[in-house]
Amino acid sequence: SGKWVLMVTAQTPTNIAVIKYWGKRDETLILPVNDSISVTLDPDHLCTTTTVAVSPSFDHDRMWLNAKEISLSGGRFQNCLREIRNRACDFEDKHIKIEKKDWEKLHVHIASYNNFPTAAGLASSAAGFACLVFSLAKLMNLREDQSQLSAIARQGSGSACRSLFGGFVKWIMGKDEKGSDSLAVQLADEEHWNDLVIIIAVVSSRQKETSSTSGMRESVETSLLLQHRAKEVVPKRIFHAVCLDTSPPIFYMNDTSHRIISYVEKWNRSEGSPQVAYTFDAGPNAVMIARNRKVATQLLQRLLFFFPPNSDTDLNSYVLGDKSILHD
Ligand code: PMV
Repeated sequence: SGKWVLMVTAQTPTNIAVIKYWGKRDETLILPVNDSISVTLDPDHLCTTTTVAVSPSFDHDRMWLNAKEISLSGGRFQNCLREIRNRACDFEDKHIKIEKKDWEKLHVHIASYNNFPTAAGLASSAAGFACLVFSLAKLMNLREDQSQLSAIARQGSGSACRSLFGGFVKWIMGKDEKGSDSLAVQLADEEHWNDLVIIIAVVSSRQKETSSTSGMRESVETSLLLQHRAKEVVPKRIFHAVCLDTSPPIFYMNDTSHRIISYVEKWNRSEGSPQVAYTFDAGPNAVMIARNRKVATQLLQRLLFFFPPNSDTDLNSYVLGDKSILHD
């Protein structure tokens, strides 16, 4: 009968790139100009929870993000849905039987929720598309492994492909024009380097002026450094220099970001060995990776001292990876 609903719920954390992806060689398939490497965060923080449902009583595909209905008409959603439907397999349990050919006609409802402020310039599309693809793949009984699923998530948002795995993950840029080999692989699992604590200092919760999509396009078109970075320099990590070398320049970092960098550099130098690493995505928020919990605690104390709450440079600091979240 038409009275059943089949549902799957999944949860996916976001990831922070330490070797950034910047620049697409194909904008529709989302194929990058360089390999990238990231750390997937602890699932307790900055994660997306998505429930997907299918029922003969649904008459079109619909999606809600943080309880507000959003359109699924964008190419990125459509590409992910199409790729998953193409690979759907027979499903059968005590009550329901769905044959491969039936999936074409069945519509999905998707409800997604971010446990962090979506507007705060923290990578939400990575967790979002990874979770969407993973939960739909489970619902439609796909046989593909995580790497193959990552190649689908990549078509939603590039960085999403790396959130299909925990731990340290590499997105291999691949060579195929169709993107079949542009996928994520796990370099080390979530138990590796367990002492690390990642702290994200929310420098500004304003939405960025230049999206990563248009920023990358402008860099591919105008930056002389970009090709050089992709081919020769990726192992040496420059990324913000490419944004500054883009015309007009893209200033993702602000004065507070620069002050945090100087502060961490001075501290590392005074200790004689690096205690804290830092990285910035397409925005001013500082992601700091502390050697261990003790260093992380010192770092937070110092940040709160140098950037006092309710001052001009107020930070909302999120402690990640140690099961606690700290606001100012
Ligand atoms: O996947 P997108 O389109 O959100 O781009 C992500 C770009 C950076 O976060 C700046 C770098 C990265 O590798 O995650």
